[in-house]
Amino acid sequence: MNTQKGRLTKDGIRIYEAADFAGMHGAGRLAAQILDDIAAHVFPGQTTAELDRLITKWVEDAGAVSATIGYKGYQHASCISVNHVVCHGIPGDKILKDGDILNIDVTVIVDGWFGDTSRMYVAGKPNRKAERLIQITHDALMKGIEAAKPGNTFGDIGYAIQLYAESQRMSVVRDFCGHGLGRVFHAPPNVLHYGRAGSGAVLEEGMFFTIEPMINIGRPETKVLADDWTAVTRDKSLSAQFEHSIGITADGCDIFTLSPSGKFHPTYG
Ligand code: MF3
Ligand code: CO
Ligand code: CO
Repeated sequence: MNTQKGRLTKDGIRIYEAADFAGMHGAGRLAAQILDDIAAHVFPGQTTAELDRLITKWVEDAGAVSATIGYKGYQHASCISVNHVVCHGIPGDKILKDGDILNIDVTVIVDGWFGDTSRMYVAGKPNRKAERLIQITHDALMKGIEAAKPGNTFGDIGYAIQLYAESQRMSVVRDFCGHGLGRVFHAPPNVLHYGRAGSGAVLEEGMFFTIEPMINIGRPETKVLADDWTAVTRDKSLSAQFEHSIGITADGCDIFTLSPSGKFHPTYG
């Protein structure tokens, strides 16, 4: 039953109202602030469990709620995906070593609004291949965001990401996608990071969704480990991911999860 305000498109995509952007900016800002603050704690010798413990505390301190604790049985405030882990890595006693690359993905609920974002970090110094993968993945997300405007389609977003990533001889993961969000964590549509220009639903002002491409150095295939969460590349090649939550505006989009201090890209801050 549609108990929320606003309307649904024929594809079941919710159109939010102008006033709802403020709620999404609030949730997105907290998630991005947490990703800014965790950067100083990523170093060789650190465990992913400790990073998650800090994130859990910061979400609580902010008076917010973690969207992932209790989500389908998941028990942590973050997903931390190291090296060939594509996504949904579970924080644990794994010790980061020099040159490890990792994605930290945080989703918070603030006043009922969901903010979902992830970035790459490096423990110590990355090798040149890893650094290049991170740069290309970041830029692929930004190409997708550039295509996110009214009149374009979801296919245009996927096409822009795939065209760029493959032009750099990287591959796009097909097994996971972005998603609508707002007052819920995961809603229609599935936001594919590959596709044909002009395909899919037309973007309209008031649509809220994530773009979160996972890009591999090797082949795109993934498999999920026995813990039922951790997704890895089948060929064990390195994988990277960046994620923003955005809202379509009259002439483009608002990024809800911009870094308050410009640290979204690991080498910019
Ligand atoms: N934050 C992830 C996303 O981008 C979802 C994580 S669900 C979890 O959609 F349960 F694994 F945390
Ligand atoms: Co997401
Ligand atoms: Co996420």
